[in-house]
Amino acid sequence: MMKVARAFSAHSRASRNPAGKAKSWVGAFAGTSGSQGWLDFMGTRSGIQLALPLAMLVIVFGGAGRTSAAETAAVSKPELEAKIKYCEICHGHSAEGFEGYYPIPRLAGQTPDFIKYSLQAFAERTRTNNIMFHVARVLSPDMMAALGAHFHDLNAKPLGAGPTDLVAAGKEIFETGVEPRGGGRIKSCSSCHGDNAEGNQDFPRLAGQLDDYIVDKLTNWSKEFGQHPSKMDVSRIMQPIAEALTEAQIKAVAAYLSSLQ
Ligand code: HEC
Ligand code: HEC
Repeated sequence: MMKVARAFSAHSRASRNPAGKAKSWVGAFAGTSGSQGWLDFMGTRSGIQLALPLAMLVIVFGGAGRTSAAETAAVSKPELEAKIKYCEICHGHSAEGFEGYYPIPRLAGQTPDFIKYSLQAFAERTRTNNIMFHVARVLSPDMMAALGAHFHDLNAKPLGAGPTDLVAAGKEIFETGVEPRGGGRIKSCSSCHGDNAEGNQDFPRLAGQLDDYIVDKLTNWSKEFGQHPSKMDVSRIMQPIAEALTEAQIKAVAAYLSSLQ
């Protein structure tokens, strides 16, 4: 127990928290502030494409929060297995997600970084969800990393897709982006989420995610993500994009993503 506690506190001191990460990122773009700044930055007003910010993001975030063998070693096997069983109650036996009263997201194949980042965001209430707040607040950073590594390795079949007649329109949006009402252009979703929506580090995998879940996140983005005004996190990158999408575009892109293996 002592050993675990020591390893844990040493890790906490050494680890970079999302706020710390975000600060350096915001600093790199001094001059953009508030969501209007982001809009300019994203190019929805100025017409600048997203390729440059993405390249810089990769430099600034590169490697942050990656799971190392040393991190996972601080969690005992029985402890980890007990936690996994607990997560499976809601997220499904193979972490394929669950369609119940409200959709519970798929975790299978998700990037380890995004799982860890999300658990931290729930615990710190920068991402507000009462259920996941209670789940996440008791997890150590090492446990979060170990859970991320475990769920990343699962490869469950997608639960079932949205309306098939929307898939082609959704694919088009995902691969080429959209022209929002205010003018300009939002670059392709694939430029951040990967050509096959497989995800990359803090950019989540979207392939095979539940149709309803994607619709719910994109519709209610600003009510759930980035809720701590003083803590900038990567959710701010996604915010202007989610806000710019119309209901029809959201439905189409969700149908496409949920159909991917
Ligand atoms: C009581 C049910 C329940 C349990 C147990 C549970 N979750 Fe969740 N989880 C949810 C719900 C509901 C959401 C969706 C929250 C939202 O709408 O944003 C969620 C969302 C998540 C997300 C965000 C995924 C995404 O794509 O945005 C992660 C990561 C996650 N859970 C990990 C875990 C892990 C790891 C465990 C086990 C330690 C766990 N959950 C246990 C209900 C649960
Ligand atoms: C500039 C990079 C970028 C682009 C372009 C982008 N995203 Fe995202 N997206 C992100 C980041 C970063 C997150 C994670 C934010 C968080 O959880 O705080 C995210 C999260 C999401 C989520 C929530 C996933 C989950 O499991 O919780 C969905 C859905 C999503 N994006 C859909 C899209 C769609 C659809 C498009 C194209 C219209 C798109 N994204 C374009 C960076 C991007």
